[in-house]
Amino acid sequence: MLKYSRNVGDTMKDTYVLGIESSCDETSISIVKNGVEEIATVTSSQIDIHKNYGGVVPEIASRQHVKNITIVLEECFEKANMTMDDIDAIAITYGPGLIGSLLIGLEAAKTLSFIYNKPLIPVHHIAGHIYANSIGHEMQFPLLAIVVSGGHTELIVMESHYRFKKIGGTLDDAIGECYDKVARVLDLEYPGGPKLDKLAAEGEPTYKLPVPLRDDSYNYSFSGLKSAVINLVHNEEQRNNTLRRADLAASFQKVAVEAIVNKAKKAIIEKNIKNVIIAGGVAANKKLRDSVKELTEELGVNFSVPPLKYCTDNGTMIAAAGYYAMKDGRKADLNLNSKSQDTLQ
Ligand code: KG4
Ligand code: ZN
Repeated sequence: MLKYSRNVGDTMKDTYVLGIESSCDETSISIVKNGVEEIATVTSSQIDIHKNYGGVVPEIASRQHVKNITIVLEECFEKANMTMDDIDAIAITYGPGLIGSLLIGLEAAKTLSFIYNKPLIPVHHIAGHIYANSIGHEMQFPLLAIVVSGGHTELIVMESHYRFKKIGGTLDDAIGECYDKVARVLDLEYPGGPKLDKLAAEGEPTYKLPVPLRDDSYNYSFSGLKSAVINLVHNEEQRNNTLRRADLAASFQKVAVEAIVNKAKKAIIEKNIKNVIIAGGVAANKKLRDSVKELTEELGVNFSVPPLKYCTDNGTMIAAAGYYAMKDGRKADLNLNSKSQDTLQ
């Protein structure tokens, strides 16, 4: 589709990227225009299946992706009222994630790229989470991305689009993983993070828990905090004491969020940050969103966090990242392989 710029009279072609995400338990496909406007997204979530097992079962996840992917693709085109002819590039999460799950999305993307002769754009899953913030929002640089997901907790500085510099990260557990483990010991159903967030809002932070890694680095450590909560629950059980679950959830959340915010504050000041964003599944956390917003107001820097629907894994963020990856000249051929682990660069 050709669009004409009113100001200069030159032609500007819109770019439509198809984004495919299948790194964990969501099969999600989206079409995004010019990296900023969602045209259509269809997501098939497997939460109801995996919650019976208390977590994602990789083999089941891959089988579900196989079952769902063509249906999700067809529904996405139907919703957008478009065909593959309208698509300029195919962005695919090549990693990190569950290898069997990643491979299903990758094979679909490669097949479409081959048949329709469209460029294949490899997208790192975390770049996707970061670019969930570009939908309807202009990113400003230097930017600090607070990456908080089930597998990652990192502080990433970007001086321009698609230039990622990790300045610190967790030395052990990711924050989402920690939320899920603590939620499990509090008998909350999988996925525990959102339920723990809700429970915490009903309690007061009256339990004393250890503050993680109070040092001068940009790093985090959450395994000590996680173990402290698990031990506390077991001790209370052994002593037949009633556990104040909401208070414990609030205590855990306070310490975890403060740890993230304190290191982010140091980075904002020391790196002259103009724009702070939160990225990843834990970006849905109310206390974290509120605390980072407050911090950015105090320091006078811009802040953005994706709407809740773009916080958990989705094809929209992959298509948005894919647009900027393509502009950065990143293109893969049909030898592209999935990677269960990979550094964002
Ligand atoms: O980004 P994501 O969907 O998957 C990965 O890429 O890892 O993140 C999932 C993680 C899970 O650990 C989930 O419990 C957590 O995000 N999560 C939350 C909330 N919503 C999702 N954690 C805390 N509070 C929430 N509201
Ligand atoms: Zn994710």
